[in-house]
Amino acid sequence: MNSRKLVVGNWKMNGSRAANAELLAGLMAAGPFGAEVAVCPPFPYLTEVSVALAGSTLAVGAQDCSAHEPGAYTGEVAAVMLREFGCRYVIVGHSERRAFHGESDQLVADKAKIALAHGLTPIVCVGETLAQRESGDTEAVVKRQLSVVVHTLAHCCAEMVVAYEPVWAIGTGRTATPQQAQVVHAVLRTQLAAATPKAAAMRLLYGGSVKADNAAELFSQPDIDGGLIGGASLKAKDFVAIVRAAG
Ligand code: PGA
Repeated sequence: MNSRKLVVGNWKMNGSRAANAELLAGLMAAGPFGAEVAVCPPFPYLTEVSVALAGSTLAVGAQDCSAHEPGAYTGEVAAVMLREFGCRYVIVGHSERRAFHGESDQLVADKAKIALAHGLTPIVCVGETLAQRESGDTEAVVKRQLSVVVHTLAHCCAEMVVAYEPVWAIGTGRTATPQQAQVVHAVLRTQLAAATPKAAAMRLLYGGSVKADNAAELFSQPDIDGGLIGGASLKAKDFVAIVRAAG
């Protein structure tokens, strides 16, 4: 287990210049925090958010990147560009990307690889659907999703962050119990340990309806090293409460 937890706010396709400024002011006024904190705004806001957070302890991440180097890929954003605009993290393989944009395990792994090549830490999301959980396939699904990334990154795999996000818990108000989450995190940790001696120090985040009132118990599980927070990261008060629950 990594001793310093990481809490990441995934704003998804939300925000406005005014709302972002208010949110960031609230976060900066409440810090510094014991946990490491990052926010992932939509692409157009990255520059402004990076500038606003310069000199603070809060990091910036993106919600996706291209699997390609710069070139003729209309509508895509290259990892090298994200780095230039101050990003430290990039989320790859979020279930909404997998579901709405047909992202495959290999594409997600390629995105993680190019992110690392440009000095970004990929936050690789894995997680099962409700149907997969109900048919007893949770473990097989998350292991398959992670194994492609581990294989693609090879000796660099210890540099990523992994987020377990059960699809049925995202934005639904239905959180995995701390025990359900811990079981899957332990599976992922064991899988990573077979690939790298640094697995114990890697950060495995839980995501899916994390709220101020369930965060502390989730974060107290031995293999949960922080959270990836969607809806509750859009209000400073709620997000700060979650960050504080992480230590
Ligand atoms: P949620 O989203 O916290 O709104 O459930 C989490 C995520 O999708 O990263």
